[in-house]
Parts: sequence; C-alpha cells; structure tokens
Amino acid sequence: MIKAEHLVKQYGSTKAVNDISFEVAEQENLILLGTSGCGKTTTLKMLNRLIEPDSGNITINGKAIGSQPPEELRRSIGYVLQNNGLFPHYTVAENISVVPRLLKWDDQKAQSRMAELLEKLHLPADFLNKYPGQLSGGQQQRVGLARALMADAPVLLMDEPFGALDTITRSKIQQEFKQLDELKRKTIVMVTHDVQEAFELADRICLMDEGRIVQTGTPAELLFKPAIPFVKDFLQAQRLQLEFKAIKLNDIWAHLPDGDTDNRPALPAQQSVWAALEQLKESGTGTLQIENEQHQKKTVTFEQLISAFHQYQIQHPA
Ligand SMILES: Nc1ncnc2c1ncn2[C@@H]1O[C@H](COP(=O)(O)OP(=O)(O)OP(=O)(O)O)[C@@H](O)[C@H]1O
Ligand SMILES: [Mg+2]
Repeated sequence: MIKAEHLVKQYGSTKAVNDISFEVAEQENLILLGTSGCGKTTTLKMLNRLIEPDSGNITINGKAIGSQPPEELRRSIGYVLQNNGLFPHYTVAENISVVPRLLKWDDQKAQSRMAELLEKLHLPADFLNKYPGQLSGGQQQRVGLARALMADAPVLLMDEPFGALDTITRSKIQQEFKQLDELKRKTIVMVTHDVQEAFELADRICLMDEGRIVQTGTPAELLFKPAIPFVKDFLQAQRLQLEFKAIKLNDIWAHLPDGDTDNRPALPAQQSVWAALEQLKESGTGTLQIENEQHQKKTVTFEQLISAFHQYQIQHPA
C-alpha cells in the first residue's frame, strides 16, 4: 500500500535520512524503531509531505504522493505528532475540529463523530471544553489520537504516540490501542524508541541507525535472525521479555500437553506467550484456556508455558 524507495534527506552535513526503503502492506502496523536522532520523525514526515525528500520516491496505492497537492494528500492520512502537538490555546473540541473544518463537514457530523471518538478513547464528554493544559499527559495523547482518527483516513502516521507516559499508563493505552477496531482497519506507520512498545504493537519493525534501516522484519525475525551484530546488541538488554512477546502460542503449540478443556473463554493462539502469562497472572485459577485456528483447545499452566517456551528457545538459538 505504501512504498518508500531510496529516501534521502540531508541538513547541512547531517544525513538525517540516508537511503531508506520500505513497504507497508494494507492494514499492517509498521514500526520505525531506533535511538534519538536516527531519522524516524524525518522519515515519517516525508510520508505526508511535511518534509520533502532530497531524492527518492513514495507511492501510496501506486500513486506518487508528489503528484497530488499536500493538503489533499493529508486528508487521506491521519497524523499523531510527537509530543501530541495540541494547540495550547484551543479547547479540546477546537483542537479536534481542525480536521472537520478542513474537510468542510457540517457541525452536526463533526459533533457526532467527536462524541463517538471520545467514548471509544475513554475520555469524558465534558473534556471538550477544557484546554490541553488542564489534562494529564495520557489524556492529551488520547485527544491527539482522536484528532488523527477524526476523518477515518485509511492511513495513520503516529510519532511516539505514547511517548510522555509512565510505564503503567503506557502499557494500559497500548492494550486499548490494540483492541480498537478503528485501528485494526488502518495501515499504520508508527515511530518509537521503545523496544518493548515496538514488540508489543508491530507487525513488522524497521530498526534504524544513523539515517539507515539496519533490518526490517517481524519481531521474531529481528530476535532470531539478526542481520548484523548491531541488531542483536540493540535487543540484548531486554531479550527475555522480547522473546516472550515475539513468540506466539502457535509457535509453542506442539510443546504444550493435551488435556481436558472447559467452557471458559479461550485466548487465541495468535497471541504471544507474554499475553498468556499476563492473563494467567490475572486469572486466579492457575490455568488458562487457549485455542488455535483449527479450534483445538488446550488448558495450560504457568509451568507448562515456560517449559514449552524453553523448548522453543533450544530449537531456535539466537
Ligand atoms: N530541520 C532540521 N534542521 C537540521 N537538522 C535536522 C532538522 N531536523 C532533523 N535534523 C537532524 O536530523 C537527524 C534526524 O532527526 P529526526 O528528528 O528525524 O530524529 P528522530 O529519530 O525522530 O529522533 P527523536 O527520537 O529524538 O525524536 C538529527 O540528527 C537531527 O538533529
Ligand atoms: Mg522524532
């Protein structure tokens, strides 16, 4: 759906983006991951022409983005700015209405869409008249997300959308984010420097360093098939938790014992081992039902999960 080829952007002697190419499939969530200054924001802003590349091409659905006026292009692309980008002297309603005004929606349509989004993002309706400064960081980021979702554009660009949050709020919003139907339908390019976040949310990751992509792949590919030592080193400090997130129940299915199942709701086996451990922690019964695409079910314990995970690790040495 989105194709970027050989993008270059230079500021003076700094090559902010140095020959970057990637593709994003329809409804995929591609994450640009890397340390501060590696060129993530610059890359993202080239996708909606807030920055023009010195050279290289970008197409969306086969159409060169340079061939349409930037304003028109941006109507089909939602954008969440780094540090939420809300106007401090506008109320929440005014901040969100920027988009419907651009699109010349009538008032009623704008109001009802705004109310719908506030509810989906768990923001009270009376927030509409508040100013960003009166909201917590997490609430501001939800407003930034609401603004980006307003026009229900098929493409969404997100620059560190959960950047300024504490770990607990962050992981709560990440879980909500994964469950939002509006987002499941979208093609998303998201920027983060947080490895855990990337592993939690990405279908595929572009790991960047000094204006280049060092590897593009699924979280599991980065972990178990690192292209160069840099990739392995980058992930090393948090490796165990990342493996729990990258390995799916499907991957370890064969290592889990068969046995009796019951009628409790089952966790789909496309979910990660990490998600299963989290659910087990909350279940209170010490067991969890899981179910694969063939509608086979298993009941698993913490010990069985860890043991199956360990067998997978032995078969896939890094
Ligand atoms: N307008 C500009 N003028 C000059 N240099 C710039 C400009 N914008 C970015 N740069 C430089 O280009 C490089 C990449 O910047 P970019 O904002 O893309 O990084 P980033 O990966 O988003 O970093 P962060 O995680 O800190 O947001 C940096 O070295 C930055 O200093
Ligand atoms: Mg940035």
